[in-house]
Amino acid sequence: MMKKKIVLAVSVFLAACGVNNDLNSNQFGLRKAGLENENKVSLIEANYTNLQPGESHRFERSYENAPPLIPHAIEDMLPITKDNNTCLSCHDKAIAKDVGATPLPASHYYDFRRNKKTGNAISDTRFNCTQCHVPQSDAKPLVGNSFKPEFKNDKLKNHSNLIDVINEGVK
Ligand code: HEC
Ligand code: HEC
Repeated sequence: MMKKKIVLAVSVFLAACGVNNDLNSNQFGLRKAGLENENKVSLIEANYTNLQPGESHRFERSYENAPPLIPHAIEDMLPITKDNNTCLSCHDKAIAKDVGATPLPASHYYDFRRNKKTGNAISDTRFNCTQCHVPQSDAKPLVGNSFKPEFKNDKLKNHSNLIDVINEGVK
């Protein structure tokens, strides 16, 4: 009797892990210093605009429906608290036109979770403005970027229509 044995040899090759585990490596992260190096952790110098609302000008949006940068000084308006949101005193849709500010867009008066309009009151999820909107500054980008935005039309370079886009084709 002959026994035929078939032996299948399966070889698994594990590629050597190429990750650099040296936390003190200068290649680590954008600040170009090791994680344990405390000497290089100071913030980069950048000037924020001192212009007051009404004196400033808006930058072109970074891309269609990007949250616009805040073009005016905001030092005196922070912090935003439950009882005091200075931003609303100019940007609320009922007030904005009279003070020459951009009114909050329709998306800020919509509750996306419950799928209904919030009427004249801003949606809770939009209350903390500086969570999404940051002031203009002259900070240089840490890495080069060749991104060029494309806008459907010229109006969208300075205005948003997110809610229309979301509802496009919906009946
Ligand atoms: C005293 C009124 C006033 C207050 C308060 C105010 N803004 Fe403004 N804001 C304006 C005006 C006016 C403009 C239009 C640009 C200009 O004339 O400076 C503007 C522009 C903006 C823009 C750019 C809009 C666009 O069309 O690109 C953003 C974003 C913004 N403000 C956010 C804020 C936030 C966030 C706060 C609170 C921290 C705030 N604003 C407080 C009056 C105000
Ligand atoms: C969760 C993020 C988020 C928060 C919080 C938020 N915004 Fe926005 N905002 C956006 C985005 C994204 C857009 C552009 C797209 C859109 O919604 O239409 C925008 C658009 C705007 C515009 C431009 C409107 C236009 O017609 O072009 C203004 C002005 C503005 N926001 C002010 C504010 C103020 C003032 C607050 C606080 C009361 C606030 N936003 C809170 C994300 C946010």
